[in-house]
Amino acid sequence: MRKEVVLITGANGEIGHGLITHLGEQGNVGIVALDVSPLDESLKKYCERFIQGDILDTMILGRLVSEFEIRTIYHLASILSTKAEYNPETAHRINVEGTLNLLRLAVEQAAWQSRPVKFLYPSSIAVYGLPDLKTKEAAGKVKENEYLQPTTMYGCNKLYCEHLGRYYSSNYRQLAADRCQNTIDFRCLRFPGLVSAVTIPTGGTSDYGPEMLHHAAQGIHYDCFVRPDTRLPFMVMPDAIKSILDLEAAPAEKLTQRIYNVTSFCPTAQEFYDIILKAFPNADVDFKPHASRQGIVDTWPCDIDDSAARRDWNWKPSYNQERSFDDYLLPAIRQRYAVK
Ligand code: SER
Repeated sequence: MRKEVVLITGANGEIGHGLITHLGEQGNVGIVALDVSPLDESLKKYCERFIQGDILDTMILGRLVSEFEIRTIYHLASILSTKAEYNPETAHRINVEGTLNLLRLAVEQAAWQSRPVKFLYPSSIAVYGLPDLKTKEAAGKVKENEYLQPTTMYGCNKLYCEHLGRYYSSNYRQLAADRCQNTIDFRCLRFPGLVSAVTIPTGGTSDYGPEMLHHAAQGIHYDCFVRPDTRLPFMVMPDAIKSILDLEAAPAEKLTQRIYNVTSFCPTAQEFYDIILKAFPNADVDFKPHASRQGIVDTWPCDIDDSAARRDWNWKPSYNQERSFDDYLLPAIRQRYAVK
């Protein structure tokens, strides 16, 4: 009999770290993890199996299907917004073709199991594209269906994959006579910038927040690549993990949509800096806006409206801005760099 597990792609990434640690500590599910790079030492003990490989490698995915009964897929692997702009076609292959491979794997699994397989997908504020700063300021909390004109390859990829998820859930092979009724149960979160005390992001454009914090805690100079007045929504990693698991657990009949905004607080870069300076008075930060990265952030909303998630599955972040820093980020980061 095949073993029942959950599959986590992008295991080494920031969300992967948080999710594997959380699920591993709970110990209720077998975890099969996939990543292109070797699995971080700290995660090994939590994983039933780790496969080092590419989500574009259909042979690897095929082997997974025959060996395991996959109940839920957390498809976290992707190339983030800044990195994607340096090689947009490669990003497209990984972000879109890679996701398509996982969706196909999920459909195959669902057919074998004769029940839908849950597919949890992190999307992003990068799907939004506000035309100018004036509109950004006036827009306030942006809803799921507003301003969907992304300006980055990553944003285009995420928005399209949201549609693919909806298609595979509801309309896959809709004209085929042998169409399988059990496909996938696609559930998607649109995340704001995420901040973790344990990991540092790579290749994103909301990275100035976490980078400023981690540099300051280590006493390293940091050039912040956006203007002080730049405002974006953020959330800490424990809340990101909570939102993924809460959405996974929500009864299907409660969900009125497949794509949900989730967020917590939305400081300007200057406010981020002020909090950091209070905690680390020797923080050495200069604001040196990078024209293109600033341009990307200027198209992302100041804040997003997560009232649908609050209404449908009782979403509520545990950490507001104050608690995020005082109860999570600052103590954990002080501890992390003090021991090194
Ligand atoms: N953090 C991501 C990025 O900056 C946004 O989802 O690319």
